[in-house]
Amino acid sequence: MNMNKDIILTGDRTTGQLHLGHYVGSLRSRVQLQNEYKTYILLADIQALTTHYDQPELIADSVHQVTLDYLAVGIDPNKATLFIQSMIPEIAELTVIFSMFITVNNLRHNPTIKNEARDRGYTDLYYGFLGYPVSQAADIAFCKATLVPAGEDQIPHIETARKLVRRFNELYAPVLPEPRILTGERLGGLDGIGKMSKSMGNAISLNARPDDVHAKLTKAKTDPARIHRSDPGNPNICPVFAYHQLFRNENAEEIHANCSQGTIGCRDCKQLAGNAINELLAPFRARRQDYEQREDEVKEILIEGTRQARKVARETMLEVREAMGIRYFNL
Ligand code: TRP
Repeated sequence: MNMNKDIILTGDRTTGQLHLGHYVGSLRSRVQLQNEYKTYILLADIQALTTHYDQPELIADSVHQVTLDYLAVGIDPNKATLFIQSMIPEIAELTVIFSMFITVNNLRHNPTIKNEARDRGYTDLYYGFLGYPVSQAADIAFCKATLVPAGEDQIPHIETARKLVRRFNELYAPVLPEPRILTGERLGGLDGIGKMSKSMGNAISLNARPDDVHAKLTKAKTDPARIHRSDPGNPNICPVFAYHQLFRNENAEEIHANCSQGTIGCRDCKQLAGNAINELLAPFRARRQDYEQREDEVKEILIEGTRQARKVARETMLEVREAMGIRYFNL
């Protein structure tokens, strides 16, 4: 492994299982990147608290479920370091330091924060929720990550992280690299409204059973103007056609043509999309089942990964303190 190359850090909030949107947005590229780059993957349980602080059991259970999702899609614990955010106190420490160089207004104008606050119906913002991009910057900086594979909604957060490390480096010493984002594809929800998201109830989870996948697609919205089977459809606005493009490229052109000419009905089209998704998910289901039977090993993967991340975090924090002139003594 070439150590001068990028260092990858990415992760997910542990508020439930991951779905196909996570897969095309970021998991798929992580599975590739882990072969070439030092890769850290964090289970963001503290960030999960920002919206689910009243459901700690859900968060802890999701740490386990999301770990299984990662292993199921092909994250290899011998290549990638999987770790739990709350077990790295240095991340919290760096969050406090970074919080000195960013204003409340800057965070308020973050478009992802604004959208989430609107979707959740927040009228006033919790300090931790408003500040989670700062904590995310610390997630990235503690291991000196340079590349963050994540969904496009994370762009403003990575911008904040870049700003914070730049400011740190200017003020004290050039210790922290500026990260870049690598965005994947965006997957629309089954309802044709917005992106696929568990909280919107329009998602297919990665461990959905084959008949669940078909049942969900049966209810999915298609081109609303298409009423009769023989009506020509507009696949370009159909959420189900987007799944054909993403999950079964070879047939997509044919389906596009058939839909446009009204020679394939929505029911058949959905059946084919469901088959394609199930083909993708089949090996994930098998790997998940396999790991489900080896709970101790899964726990060991997290312990080992968290230990490694913690070691790196301690080293970085010594440099951070040194740069700031607050490395008073060793305890
Ligand atoms: N905010 C990310 C999400 O909602 C999760 C996350 C937390 C993250 N820390 C991160 C992503 C650091 C990339 C890098 O999915």
